[in-house]
Amino acid sequence: MAIRQIRYEGDPILRKLSREVTEINERIEILLEDMVDTMYHNEGVGLAAPQVGVLRRVVVIDIGDGPLKLINPVIIEEEGENIGVEACLSVPNRIGTVQRPEKVVVRYLDEDGKEKDIEGTGLLAKALCHEIDHLNGVLFIDKMIEEIVPKEDERD
Ligand code: CO
Repeated sequence: MAIRQIRYEGDPILRKLSREVTEINERIEILLEDMVDTMYHNEGVGLAAPQVGVLRRVVVIDIGDGPLKLINPVIIEEEGENIGVEACLSVPNRIGTVQRPEKVVVRYLDEDGKEKDIEGTGLLAKALCHEIDHLNGVLFIDKMIEEIVPKEDERD
């Protein structure tokens, strides 16, 4: 188990395009494991590789149903719209509303290199879109409709 250092907004690596994974080798397997550990350690719902300084198209998500590990994820279908509140481990202390599809289908490779599709609605759709954006150098604050500013007495 290894917790990796989270990169924060302002770090240029978060703005770069991540490269596809062409071979699922030990490095990628360790990366996936470390990303899951790092996500849980920071109590996140998802994490993309650039957030730990690795420009590879790899994301992990856990919305409460156990960890999902996605390699080269691509949104192949989207439907509807949903405005929800988002936050990001790389953008601490800021939250705001973002519009996402209500439903997405994402095609990806699992750890064994098998092509799979996952359908997500609501929170899962939001997490899939948010993490895939990271692979393209996009942060939720770029798409934020309205920032939610905590009241004075709620600030820590
Ligand atoms: Co994020």
